[in-house]
Amino acid sequence: HHPFFVSQVRMRHLCNDTLVTVVNGQFPGPALEATEGDTVVVHLVNQSPYGITIHWHGVKQRLTCWADGAGMITQCPIQPNTTFTYRFDVSGQEGTLWWHSHVSALRATLHGIIVIRPRSGTYPFPKPDVEVPVIIGEWWQRDLIKVDKNFSIGGSFDDNPAAATINGKLGDLYNCSGVAEDNFVLDVEPGKTYLLRLVNAALFSEYYFKVAGHKLTVVGADASYLRPFTTEVVAVAAGETIDVLMVADAPPCRYYMAALANQPPVPDPQIPVFISRGVVQYNNIPSDAQNCTEKSPLMPEMPDQHDTITTFYFHGNLTGLQQPGGGHPLLPQVRGRVDERLFLTLGKGSMCTHNKTSCKRGGSNESFEVAYINNVSFHLPETTAVLEARYYGSGVAVEQLPSMPPRAFNFTDTALIPVVPGGKMEELEPTRKATTTRRFAHNATVEVVFQSTATMQSDSNPMHLHGHDFFVLAQGHGNYDAGRDVRSYNLVDPPMKNTVQVPRLGWAAIRFVADNPGAWFLHCHFEFHIAMGMATVFEVDSGPTLETTLPPPPSDLPKCTR
Ligand code: C2O
Repeated sequence: HHPFFVSQVRMRHLCNDTLVTVVNGQFPGPALEATEGDTVVVHLVNQSPYGITIHWHGVKQRLTCWADGAGMITQCPIQPNTTFTYRFDVSGQEGTLWWHSHVSALRATLHGIIVIRPRSGTYPFPKPDVEVPVIIGEWWQRDLIKVDKNFSIGGSFDDNPAAATINGKLGDLYNCSGVAEDNFVLDVEPGKTYLLRLVNAALFSEYYFKVAGHKLTVVGADASYLRPFTTEVVAVAAGETIDVLMVADAPPCRYYMAALANQPPVPDPQIPVFISRGVVQYNNIPSDAQNCTEKSPLMPEMPDQHDTITTFYFHGNLTGLQQPGGGHPLLPQVRGRVDERLFLTLGKGSMCTHNKTSCKRGGSNESFEVAYINNVSFHLPETTAVLEARYYGSGVAVEQLPSMPPRAFNFTDTALIPVVPGGKMEELEPTRKATTTRRFAHNATVEVVFQSTATMQSDSNPMHLHGHDFFVLAQGHGNYDAGRDVRSYNLVDPPMKNTVQVPRLGWAAIRFVADNPGAWFLHCHFEFHIAMGMATVFEVDSGPTLETTLPPPPSDLPKCTR
């Protein structure tokens, strides 16, 4: 049982007092620590001026779609001065997940870690001595409701965070009139093993993470175990979690850990460089310790901020752990017949202002930019949540998400990036807005190929599905070609994820079994992409039995007030 009091508090960083919305006065918010198989009950009391929902990112929510907390998808927001109790099980998954608010951009400060430990008490790797949450986030000094609104009407690249953070600390690369901001400090004892649970809670960016002088062994991601591999650099996509082991085996000293945001190079629009660092501090550093006499800790050499290849290889290295007793129970099914195939292009287009059907594009103010899946920009319903509308059979006009884009083009042609009048992009821009869903029969095997495009920008797209984990079968650069690329599918030991980093100028293929009835949000975890409409809903039918049927909503489910 966890009480969650949502309220606004002032926090001071970079010489500014900023009013932020947090849980229990903390940034990041409180950790939810559970054992696999537990029932988690969160009693939320909303003392903030905003409507709030909390999403339990990566929790499968079997038969508890009503508790998924996706604003206007599974519930209406919890209004100010009201309460709601979330109740769900954490079963069939172990590792690191996280929770965050799921209305507007408030999740910048409304988030925290979820740790699910094995019931047996044993991990499929040497037991770590200490477990450490490492939450990478951002510090915003803007009105986040406004930021989200700005993006929904086209966005501007001036709406940027002020700093990157590690566990809420900005670190000493940031200062207020010369006084350095605090670092997150991890005290270590020589020879001990630390399980770092990395969470990327940032609104904007993928981050590279390194610790000077230390190697990291990746053992899990998105609360599924991975075949361990050792690396110096970890890439954590927005929304993703990565578990790594770090042995304190360096000469006792002080070492920086650093998190650096990456971004595509120009001609993509550029944001400032965001980097935060913390310190790994050995205890009892001998006074005569060699090479540890200087005051400043050793800084890891970070990848270039425009390096988008390191993440490609990092994510390509992930494979699922073969547990004693074989692979994942759903693997045989996803190896077999595929019932539904979707090819989803992720990109940007434009719409005419004032609902006109024709207008000047290419950056003119007669049109505004939106983000899309297959040229449809998702419209979040305003009066009824999608799940309620479906359950009661009324209230929201939905359209079927197209299985393919309206037409094929060279999706990854970088000539599409510049937004200029008469530019190559112009003829491809027209996009419509709708609340799209895609309905799947209970137990259907679904394959989705996500294709990142170069339309107006060449970003990667961290695609996150609620309510199901999926197998990531393959990824590649360039345009997906079924005839060629199916051969590269890993159907032996694919990693299980809830968020897939669809590479910049590339594609990724996933499969999952639609076995959890409800309405599940699928979206890019970059906040500006979701606010601009890169989203849709997967609706999964109930099965024939009581154990496969979505129960009715909890009686205290918030009512919509508008
Ligand atoms: Cu963390 Cu809908 O996502």
